[in-house]
Amino acid sequence: MPLTENQIRDALKQVKYPGFSRDIVSFGIVKNIELQGNRCNVQMSLTTSDPKIADQIKTESEQTLHKLAGIGSATVTVNLQAAAPGVFQQQRVQGIRHSVAVASGKGGVGKSTVAVNLSLALSRLGARVGLMDCDIYGPSIPLMMNVKTFPTASDDRLNPIISFDVKLMSMGFLVDPDSPVIWRGPMVTRTVQQFVHHVAWGDLDYLVIDLPPGTGDAQLSLCQTLPLSGAVMVTTPQEVALIDVRKAIGMFQKVNVPILGIVENMSFFLCPSDNKRYDIFGAGGGQREADRLGVPLMSQIPIEMAVREGGDAGIPLMVGSPQSTSGRAFLQAAEILRKKLP
Ligand SMILES: Nc1ncnc2c1ncn2[C@@H]1O[C@H](COP(=O)(O)OP(=O)(O)OP(=O)(O)O)[C@@H](O)[C@H]1O
Ligand SMILES: [Mg+2]
Repeated sequence: MPLTENQIRDALKQVKYPGFSRDIVSFGIVKNIELQGNRCNVQMSLTTSDPKIADQIKTESEQTLHKLAGIGSATVTVNLQAAAPGVFQQQRVQGIRHSVAVASGKGGVGKSTVAVNLSLALSRLGARVGLMDCDIYGPSIPLMMNVKTFPTASDDRLNPIISFDVKLMSMGFLVDPDSPVIWRGPMVTRTVQQFVHHVAWGDLDYLVIDLPPGTGDAQLSLCQTLPLSGAVMVTTPQEVALIDVRKAIGMFQKVNVPILGIVENMSFFLCPSDNKRYDIFGAGGGQREADRLGVPLMSQIPIEMAVREGGDAGIPLMVGSPQSTSGRAFLQAAEILRKKLP
């Protein structure tokens, strides 16, 4: 039986874009498949400034194709288009000095809480701050920042909503909170791009970006849309969270986004009745990971009722109790960030 184009395409679906959970076929990288008997030539096209990514895709694709029963030879040609006009063009956004992603491997470790309070802490230090909620699967920033109105548009651009001196834009403003959002890859890409380029951010020292967990489409789109200054990784101290955060770190490194530091959240619990410290999720994980990467452990945020209550009530901790242990910890993270990205 001669090989078919579909067999080749199906096989290539096993090859992931380096560092990401999505495959190269769904990304539209595979442009042409030629078959002559048992020999196949595949043309791919890629927009990246990193030739190593192209090499890796070529090698992995050829290895995968050589495993196909009945294949004679398989040659993959990757056409590199550095910053060609197209979906994945990176454009520096005028007026934004630094854009910082807040990311994690695992869900629920406190990214949104960190993104909100880090933004507010930077603002307390005198910086002009924007906060972009890219968690298209479960936007939570509007609730945390007590925003109930919707952004207005002028001159084709959305005006961010200002809350506690921070300029906000969130998927939560654009979708009905009760309707399930099923965003497919291309939609995610477009949304992220709109958020970056069609919002009137004005002049900002920092644009803090809250990401969904993991290494999916939103992260990839983001890295390819915006020249990120770096990423702050959020983890809890225990091994299961660290395993996931390492994967996410690997993804950022592959797309050349520097890791600025690690924020360890839910680090310990200071019991109000006996003043003892309890390491509920273990201890030392954040520091070990920071040492491994040679980046600072920016802060250890304790588990505090006030953090959760502040989030739910729309009065973030940095607004309601900035002098609390966690408030001071967020401020410390902001100070380290400011030194790294002055
Ligand atoms: N240090 C803390 N002390 C107490 N509660 C916290 C702390 N950090 C986060 N929380 C609470 O834990 C819950 C999850 O936090 P958050 O929504 O910030 O996580 P996330 O990583 O953004 O989650 P997702 O992956 O779903 O986006 C929230 O209810 C939040 O208020
Ligand atoms: Mg979140």
